[in-house]
Amino acid sequence: MALEKRTDHLYFHRPWIGPEEKQEILDCLDSGWLTTGPRTKEFEKRFAERIGVKHAIALNSCTAGLHLALVGLNVGPGDEIVTTPLTFVATVNVIEHVGARPVFIDVDPRTGNIDPSKIERAITPKTKAILIVHYVGHPCEMDAICDIARRRSVPVIEDAAHATESEYKGKRCGTFGHPAAFSFYATKNITTGEGGMLVTDDDALATRLRILALHGMNRDAWKRYSAEGSPTWQLEEPGFKYNMFDLQAALGIHQLDKLEMFWRRRKEIVHRMRREISEIPGLRTVEDAGDVKSAYHLMPIYLTPKAKMKRDEANRAYKDWNVGTGIHFECVHLQPYYRKKYGCKPGDCPVAEEMGANTLSLPLYPKMSDDDVQYVLDVTRAIFR
Ligand SMILES: Cc1ncc(COP(=O)(O)O)c(C=O)c1O
Repeated sequence: MALEKRTDHLYFHRPWIGPEEKQEILDCLDSGWLTTGPRTKEFEKRFAERIGVKHAIALNSCTAGLHLALVGLNVGPGDEIVTTPLTFVATVNVIEHVGARPVFIDVDPRTGNIDPSKIERAITPKTKAILIVHYVGHPCEMDAICDIARRRSVPVIEDAAHATESEYKGKRCGTFGHPAAFSFYATKNITTGEGGMLVTDDDALATRLRILALHGMNRDAWKRYSAEGSPTWQLEEPGFKYNMFDLQAALGIHQLDKLEMFWRRRKEIVHRMRREISEIPGLRTVEDAGDVKSAYHLMPIYLTPKAKMKRDEANRAYKDWNVGTGIHFECVHLQPYYRKKYGCKPGDCPVAEEMGANTLSLPLYPKMSDDDVQYVLDVTRAIFR
């Protein structure tokens, strides 16, 4: 039977916001305290417990967290940061913001994660950190990466934007690095609309990062204006305006309660999609490699040379079928800015380039019904068969 086109658009992503989140937002508005305050503190506490870290600092984005991580580790002009090109531009832009130079390393074709076997030879006396990304929520090879980091005395920073639920050999992502940043952007596994969390076990670094996240002032608004607070403060060093506020945390507290339920549904959808897509000629997906728990944040497919059409044409075809798609990611080193500034060129990271140029991401979120998943698979078959 011919596939019938659905009349409504199947969005690439839809958040799951329940009555608990809505009530908490109303309670927050009624409380009269909108900026960083008790709900942000509560969200930080619960997130730190969940990940198993001493300190969690709630921010307005993961990008802010990555920037603060570099500032906190005193990375600056003349320094180099080893990183992956198969990521969102934010991972690399923050390296530019502190005046350091990104050094791009190719990825493992099975997972899209930075290839540890290529890291070591990229480390120079100027290297100040290895900034890894747990791509689409699949943990990087942390044994190999941490071994290199230890031997070469270089800290690892984890971009854990996709990795809230991820574990490597039973240890949570976000606890290997020093520090790590998570994202609660609208399309992430849990969302605060916009938002991020910076985590670390280092007491002194946490104190400094917390101050840097709020202009460099040593007292936040809750400590200044609440009934128990004191209005005086001092500037420790010029910082940034990166704090999360309570209306965001009102969402985060309840999203965190749903994380496990969300993850189970994501896993179910991903496994079904991977199974069925692997039977379509010309398509491949990433796989779970090793003793890992993936967060199953995204469902990228990769069009091999045998695929019936190219990526951009396929994107248009999905659109015609009323299915939203994304691209994760166009390689960062091939963006005009990085080409111009560092002379990056095609061939520098061939595996990442191949993946980046031939990938598109299908809808994946817990709110998708079984019929939605079936429709995406049917459309995929219709496009590529
Ligand atoms: C890998 C990666 N890192 C960092 C970010 C930035 O996150 P945020 O939007 O919270 O700043 C994103 C956002 O999509 C991302 O995918």
